[in-house]
Amino acid sequence: MPGTLLFSPMTIRGVELKNRIVVPPMHQYSAQKGFPTDWHLMNAGKFAAGGAGLVVVESTKVERRGCGTIGDLGIWDDAFVEPLSRLVKFIHQQNSVAGIQLGHSGRKARATRPWEGDRPLQRTPDIDDWDAWSPVAPSAVAHSEKWPVPKALERSEVKDLVQAWGNAARRAHEAGFDMLELHGAHGYLVHQFLSERSNQRTDEYGGSESNRMRFITEITEAVRTHWPDHKPLFVRLSVEDNAGWGPEQSARLAKILKAKGVDVIDCSSGGITEMEPILGKEIKYSYQVPLSEYVKLNADIMTMAVGLIIHGDQAEQILQHKQADLIAVGREILNNPNWPMDAALKLGVEGPFRNVPPQFGYWLGTRAKRGFGTQPSTWQSGLNEAGKVE
Ligand SMILES: Cc1cc2nc3c(=O)[nH]c(=O)nc-3n(C[C@H](O)[C@H](O)[C@H](O)COP(=O)(O)O)c2cc1C
Repeated sequence: MPGTLLFSPMTIRGVELKNRIVVPPMHQYSAQKGFPTDWHLMNAGKFAAGGAGLVVVESTKVERRGCGTIGDLGIWDDAFVEPLSRLVKFIHQQNSVAGIQLGHSGRKARATRPWEGDRPLQRTPDIDDWDAWSPVAPSAVAHSEKWPVPKALERSEVKDLVQAWGNAARRAHEAGFDMLELHGAHGYLVHQFLSERSNQRTDEYGGSESNRMRFITEITEAVRTHWPDHKPLFVRLSVEDNAGWGPEQSARLAKILKAKGVDVIDCSSGGITEMEPILGKEIKYSYQVPLSEYVKLNADIMTMAVGLIIHGDQAEQILQHKQADLIAVGREILNNPNWPMDAALKLGVEGPFRNVPPQFGYWLGTRAKRGFGTQPSTWQSGLNEAGKVE
């Protein structure tokens, strides 16, 4: 398939992506006191080397209180800039674009890691700043029965937090990131402000829909004062949260955010309750794509689709049908960091091995020319008695 959309370049503001494949933010639970480790370099590096156009570093917290669990990355101090810049340099060396997501877990902070049950952490002596890590939220309303009641933020603290997001954006710029995403989804702090369920404030940050949108709007303004005009800004939303916030609200918010300098809405779902993302509907391939299509059409803004997008032709069709402008491939790229190379092969894109660094692309290309396989061997039938692949 020559001339795919998936492998066509795209320019957002002053940043050119070589293709539409994005590695979405994925927590690595591997930071030390908020600082990135070699794991992060390896992780971002392998995705960049695998050929993705944009690699977005995981939700990186704008303040200590916002850390979700053990090993969260931080960006609440200037000391984080230099170590984060190491990741950026390496992503750039692989001819990819470097993004970072800024986040704050709010009332879902101080939890165990997912494979430990995703529940509140118990105090242990090895966490030496336990009290500084106390969960805060728009209102003193727990996420669910098993979660602690968070401290409601004072009005002045909300204002300080807005500035914390702005300062984090400045640091992300100083570290050299090209793209920034604000985490407004999955039941974390920004989403807690948006949802009537978690936001019962009586000041200008609660009550009406426009008041509940004020926090993310002010954050966007603060971020844009520090984040240069030539760099793209994304916001991830739970476009449907099955608890009162849905596509219509999301499209209204997207319009406001667009006017404040947001370029792309990254369309996810769920997280404000313990329910599965799209309640009552089957979780299937592309299950969140209709949310992306709705926001794109109704808010006239670029969107990124995410969620069980696994196959190259599936990704291409989403773009062809104008349901999204960018495709995020999460768990499948964990499974196969060279997914962009494989998708290029499968879609018949010219020069599929040129999409990855020559250190390995050159060798795979010359081997393929001699007829020795392109698809991963483990899924081929193996050799027959004549020593040939069946
Ligand atoms: C290990 C892991 C960590 C994740 N961490 C984040 C994160 O930091 N921020 C975020 O917005 N979403 C996070 N997500 C959600 C992914 O970005 C993505 O939306 C989700 O995995 C669905 O896409 P997929 O079906 O392609 O995996 C994470 C997902 C995984 C599997």
